[in-house]
Amino acid sequence: MPTQGLTRVDFPVLPQHVGIIMDGNGRWAKKHRLAIAFGHRAGTENLREIIRHTDDLKIAALSLYAFSTENWRRSTDEVAALMQLILDFFASEIDELDEKNVRITILGDKDGLPKKQRDTLLEAEARTGKNTGLRLNIAINYGGRAEIVRAAKALAEEARDGRLDPAAIDEEAFAQRLYTTGQPDVDLLIRTSGEMRLSNFLLWQCAYAEFIFPEKLWPDFTVADYDQALTEFAGRARRFGGR
Ligand code: FPP
Repeated sequence: MPTQGLTRVDFPVLPQHVGIIMDGNGRWAKKHRLAIAFGHRAGTENLREIIRHTDDLKIAALSLYAFSTENWRRSTDEVAALMQLILDFFASEIDELDEKNVRITILGDKDGLPKKQRDTLLEAEARTGKNTGLRLNIAINYGGRAEIVRAAKALAEEARDGRLDPAAIDEEAFAQRLYTTGQPDVDLLIRTSGEMRLSNFLLWQCAYAEFIFPEKLWPDFTVADYDQALTEFAGRARRFGGR
């Protein structure tokens, strides 16, 4: 069933790649006098419609910041709740996503995750790896600087082993060693809850992104709010450094 909301023809232009920093789950829980885990759960519920709508609009790629390398600093309870949500999300969504031809890519260091989570993520990537529809990137145990260092290391190793001529290293070669290899750059970055920071998310890929910072907390962010951000994006003049 298509989601409520605008359709592709309603937009003069749409981004090819949307990034979302789903911020405000903690404040939402506090506002509703609930434990923080409920905020993250409400945020995950919300996510379903946003993914569906992105797919309906035939946007090529959607990247979601689910868990940063800095999030390990949160309480044991909160980390455990987020780890459980990762399992729950894939258990409940994988069939529909695969059916819709969505290809899932995990951005981040899966080796640093508990085995259950790692296995679930590897399985989701393997199962959907040949799909040709929406590229759904979920950043888990992810940091933008670490991703750039990892790419630099890969290039250095290839050069050391004689598989790569250092003179051939250009932006394209670098981008190919990032988790998002083969995907377009982020055109639109949305961060909810009024915070205006990138927080180490997709540093390379956001070089020319438009930024939109809706005030709403992530669990309250609706498909209509998403459409509003997409409409605002369509009204922005993008020059990529030119005139
Ligand atoms: C930021 O809100 C949100 C997070 C750190 C986690 C976001 C994760 C989800 C919505 C779960 C998604 C899961 C999957 C598998 C896609 P915050 O807690 O920093 O909010 P606050 O700033 O109000 O405290």
